[in-house]
Amino acid sequence: KSPTLFSNAVQASLYTAKQIAELILEKQKQGLPAVLGLATGNTPKKVYKELIRLHQYEGLSFHNVVSFNLDEYYPIGSENDQSYTYFMNQNLFSYIDIQPKNIHVPHTDSSPDQITQYCLDYESKIAGFGGIDLQLLGIGRNGHIGFNEPGSSFDSTTRLVNLDSITREDAITDFGTLNKVPHQAISIGIHTIIQAKKILLLALGERKSEIINEAINGEISIQVPASILQTMPQVEYVLDNEAARLI
Ligand code: F6R
Repeated sequence: KSPTLFSNAVQASLYTAKQIAELILEKQKQGLPAVLGLATGNTPKKVYKELIRLHQYEGLSFHNVVSFNLDEYYPIGSENDQSYTYFMNQNLFSYIDIQPKNIHVPHTDSSPDQITQYCLDYESKIAGFGGIDLQLLGIGRNGHIGFNEPGSSFDSTTRLVNLDSITREDAITDFGTLNKVPHQAISIGIHTIIQAKKILLLALGERKSEIINEAINGEISIQVPASILQTMPQVEYVLDNEAARLI
């Protein structure tokens, strides 16, 4: 399927935010919740900035939004600046009128023996809302989606995962040094992701050009987790011209 291309990251992000806003409004008209799957990292930052602007200046309300984040480091305290709970508050939730009870970011204060149950409960909560209406995804340089690293089963659901060395290296910019980067995370699974009714995979910048080409045009393999999306009709790749350079 051909990707949706934009001349720069801002245009790609505005387009993505518009898709999300339209879904929210459509669900409001129907009196239904809009169930969003959200990502962290650099890629969605401008999308969240635009959603905040739409809320502050154009009256977009998030009162019917239910959100599920893809992943969270393990272990990490939610008050830690590097936690994804902190990231989501700083980049989106603190500035919009989403109801706190509707926000779900995997918590990692569960002890190791409680994690399995915790992950099953996260899945049940998603299912309880009828599944994810719109899943926003970034892509790792190793092809991961969420923290489903190379080798993850396409049938995987929410679970504790070991982080790949490329993922840990890329997190040095946030944690300062490699030994501070956690070795594990909780991530929703590939199966969970591909059940979403609509999936927007956003990739921006030259450093994503190789992997995005492999994910879209390469063979479907668990070594490139995002490659499974090629078979999914509900997927839209949203790229800026730098990320699309090799396609
Ligand atoms: C984040 C996530 C990851 C990132 C990916 C790209 O919640 O699940 O898959 O989307 O690592 O990260 P950035 O956007 O920082 O390049």
